Amino acid sequence: MKILIVVGTRPNFVKVAPLDKELKKYSKFSSILVHTGQHYGSEMSESFFNELKLPRPDIYLGVGSGTHAEQTGKIMIKFEKVCKAEQPDLIVVVGDVNSTIACTLVAVKLGIKVAHVEAGLRSFDRTMPEEINRILTDSISDYLFTTCEDANENLLKEGIDKEKIYFVGNIMIDTLLKFKKRAEKKNTFEKFDLNKKNYALLTLHRPSNVDKKASLEKILRAIKMISYKIPLIFPTHPRTKKFIKDHNLSSIINNSNSIILSKPLGYLEFLNLMINAKLVLTDSGGIQEETTVLKIPCLTLRKNTERPITVKIGTNILVGDDESKILINTEKILKNNYKNNYKIPKYWDGNTAKRIISIILNNI
Ligand code: UD1
Repeated sequence: MKILIVVGTRPNFVKVAPLDKELKKYSKFSSILVHTGQHYGSEMSESFFNELKLPRPDIYLGVGSGTHAEQTGKIMIKFEKVCKAEQPDLIVVVGDVNSTIACTLVAVKLGIKVAHVEAGLRSFDRTMPEEINRILTDSISDYLFTTCEDANENLLKEGIDKEKIYFVGNIMIDTLLKFKKRAEKKNTFEKFDLNKKNYALLTLHRPSNVDKKASLEKILRAIKMISYKIPLIFPTHPRTKKFIKDHNLSSIINNSNSIILSKPLGYLEFLNLMINAKLVLTDSGGIQEETTVLKIPCLTLRKNTERPITVKIGTNILVGDDESKILINTEKILKNNYKNNYKIPKYWDGNTAKRIISIILNNI
């Protein structure tokens, strides 16, 4: 069985690494790794291949950045040629990025089966590009692998046949558990002159937070307030760096001794910072899940989440771009007065790739 695995962005690399490794254990499968090039360069792409021991992509489409239509269109045109040349039996896509929907659409129209890993997540916010990518990908995929039981319910409510849905757990956590010890041994937080459990870690890249000046400014002002109480490190996504400059907001965070700005970090360095942080502030999807497993308090800078289980039983609270919510909850964390009794969701146990490959082996 020829399986074509698609990656495009940072979080995709983290999700595909365990799948690729598991697939290679079976002689029944031959696999081809296709990188669309949605994320590129050493910081956003190559360092992940090295650290996660992902093989070099067999095929690199090199699409780069652009508007949504440009990026999605370019991926589709190039990926169609790959599918026609390779004639795979199955393509595997992960997550909710433009590469996910672009490749799914191409494959389905060529009559190639599609497996979507991380299916069924819904924020119910259709202004998010990722929500559109999720709904469309799920509605035309053949095999839907979900991370939690509420994702199954979302899919059933959308009329998807239950025979297509497989609850397998969280593939990103396979990678987290595998690399945790290695990350602990790194000296990343010391390198930035930070002390264990005495700093906050921030990531920010959602268009809704960074593209418009008003919300970016509100968040940066709240960050500045937090930095008076605890040092904060902010590895800055290229999109965010660009908008901080374009909106003339650099002065809010540039002249502070307790705000450390860094370039985007590799997987192990970032994991080291997450493990040792007192709290994490983020608008990422994956980091909400990783902090829940690591039991690190997480304030999500969004009004909604497609990962509500991290709020319900994990360490996550939604604070949006509301300065007072951000500060009140930070204060609670600093006083060790935050929610507790965290639980780790079912099947977020490091064995998700095994479950997925065994289903592919037996059913596809
Ligand atoms: C994309 C995904 C988002 C995911 C995120 C993970 C979509 C719609 N969005 O957002 O869901 O959470 O990746 O990081 O697919 N840029 C670089 N170098 C890169 C990539 C991007 O400099 O390697 C810059 C470019 O200026 C680009 C901008 O960042 O225009 C945004 O990149 P893009 O891939 O469009 O979306 P992300 O914000 O990274």
